[in-house]
Amino acid sequence: MVDLTDFIQQVKRANDIVDVIGSYLELRHNGSANFVARCPFHGEKTASFNVNRAMQIYKCFGCGESGDVIKFVEKYESLTFMEALERMAKRANLKMPETLLQKQDKDYAARKQKQDVYFAICRDAAVFYYKAYYSEKGAVAREYVESRGFTPDTVKKFGIGYSPDKYSLVKFLQDKKYETEDCLKCGVLQRSHNGDVFDALSYRLIIPIFNMQGKVIAFGGRGLTEEVTNYGKYKNTAETPLFLKKNNLFAINVAKEQKQQSALPNIVVVEGYMDVIAMYQAGFKRAVASMGTSLTESQAKWLSRLTSTVYICYDGDAAGQKATVRGLDILDKAGLEVKVMSVPENLDPDEYIKKYGAEAFEKLIENALPLPDYKLALLEKTFSINSPDAAKRNDALSKYVKGALIMLRQLDDVRQSQYIAAVSLKTGFSQEYFRRKLTEDVKTETPVAETAQQISSETQAKYFVACCVLRGEDYASVEEKPRCDTVFLSDLYDYLLKCREENVSPSVDMLYTICPDATEQEYSQIIDVDLSKSRREKNKQYFKECKLLLKKEELKGKKERLLEEIKQNPDDVSLLEQLAKLSSELN
Ligand code: GTP
Ligand code: MN
Repeated sequence: MVDLTDFIQQVKRANDIVDVIGSYLELRHNGSANFVARCPFHGEKTASFNVNRAMQIYKCFGCGESGDVIKFVEKYESLTFMEALERMAKRANLKMPETLLQKQDKDYAARKQKQDVYFAICRDAAVFYYKAYYSEKGAVAREYVESRGFTPDTVKKFGIGYSPDKYSLVKFLQDKKYETEDCLKCGVLQRSHNGDVFDALSYRLIIPIFNMQGKVIAFGGRGLTEEVTNYGKYKNTAETPLFLKKNNLFAINVAKEQKQQSALPNIVVVEGYMDVIAMYQAGFKRAVASMGTSLTESQAKWLSRLTSTVYICYDGDAAGQKATVRGLDILDKAGLEVKVMSVPENLDPDEYIKKYGAEAFEKLIENALPLPDYKLALLEKTFSINSPDAAKRNDALSKYVKGALIMLRQLDDVRQSQYIAAVSLKTGFSQEYFRRKLTEDVKTETPVAETAQQISSETQAKYFVACCVLRGEDYASVEEKPRCDTVFLSDLYDYLLKCREENVSPSVDMLYTICPDATEQEYSQIIDVDLSKSRREKNKQYFKECKLLLKKEELKGKKERLLEEIKQNPDDVSLLEQLAKLSSELN
């Protein structure tokens, strides 16, 4: 029987954290054992994400996230722990021990198998629709597509298809021996109240939706006749285990493909399928569509893995809406440069390109407003700060300033100065006024995090002793387990004492194996302590004091127990002798 902890340690030793993370992120060397990058977990403009080769751990000082190489892969690739472990084992040509494989989540295997069935159904349905498009019945779809000016190449590229009727797809999938329940589960078929099973997108033009890996996960269906559009111009596959709208963007696979061919300076986010397709045909092969929902963090994460700048191109009235602005802030928080386009005459990109051509559209991209400017423009549109009526003007100005302050607070220092100047010019309020407002607000907003829970000096000492021993300080050792109030400290000391017993040096990254569920504060007590050479003498001294404190605590505990015993056996002289000895030791 292979011990899981041992195997994990073996896998970690064989996968240097800098090599592994370096294959995902651009790491910059920063000091002897340290590398930095922009954090992939919270998105940011500065590099707060640190990878430490000596300790074999990573830590982001922006969001607090920390871990070892396996935890990184688990998080970054959205895998379970076992999957991440298996992947790292493979990378190092280590075989997962059979005993561990059997332990693997049985649910996971079953889930994965089901998922593969759903992928297969979606793929086969896409093939069915595609063929139907070119069949006799598909004439209506081909005519429609042609009337909108899409070329056969474009149709092929996006795998556009057609659903000819309600039941042909049902039969097709049955012939392929798929279970009806599975076809319903992945949204391709639908069941009515009376039990009738039919093609969920019957009679519609079919636009397949692919995931990042290029697998079909859902479909958009556009009605072509009034009879059908009466039930909605578009109908999408319902949300399924494969397809969560908020996690996906239409044509993200195309953008990814473009990135693989050359760097992607930017991506344009539009609203509609047809806009993406029209833009592609016009040579803008880097558009994705949000499919009618407001942008989410998970979409922002996908985008930030492909590019650094996102242009938003929404309908005139849609862009100003609260939900949209929130979506833009989400992109901004993910570290993306956000620019907002506006298309004149309330046209959508497809219509605009048809009417004015690709070059004119390129101009719209060039003229896009940076997010802060866009927000100011929006404020100006909402509040008439130039009203000739003084009372109205003052009221509008104060609202504008309030809004501008919210915007300014989200900027980094450099940009903040720039925009303070601009806003001051616009409103006539002094730059000093804005600066003061901004610092005042910071003071009153100081988060509670500062006043984190008080830790007793004994607990502090336990952390520090464990920290020094774990990180291999030559003056540090631990002989006994102190009284531990938390699972974290208890498990950590068990590990340190086990290492001592086996006469091996402990390693810092094992923190995440031994104590996988600790809080970032707990990890921080161990990994963020400054043990640099310059502090060595101070730390050594403090370590001694900590050990002394722990010794005291232990003796006090003994004394209490002894007193308890003496209460029970007041006549036992030997107990009294022990007590005397303990008391003198304590002093
Ligand atoms: P065309 O009208 O064919 O040019 O389509 P479009 O892509 O320009 O669509 P539009 O701008 O009207 O809508 C933007 C997006 O919102 C669409 O691509 C769909 O994803 C979604 N959408 C629009 N109408 C509907 C609808 O009736 N039902 C659903 N579920 N989604 C819709
Ligand atoms: Mn349109």
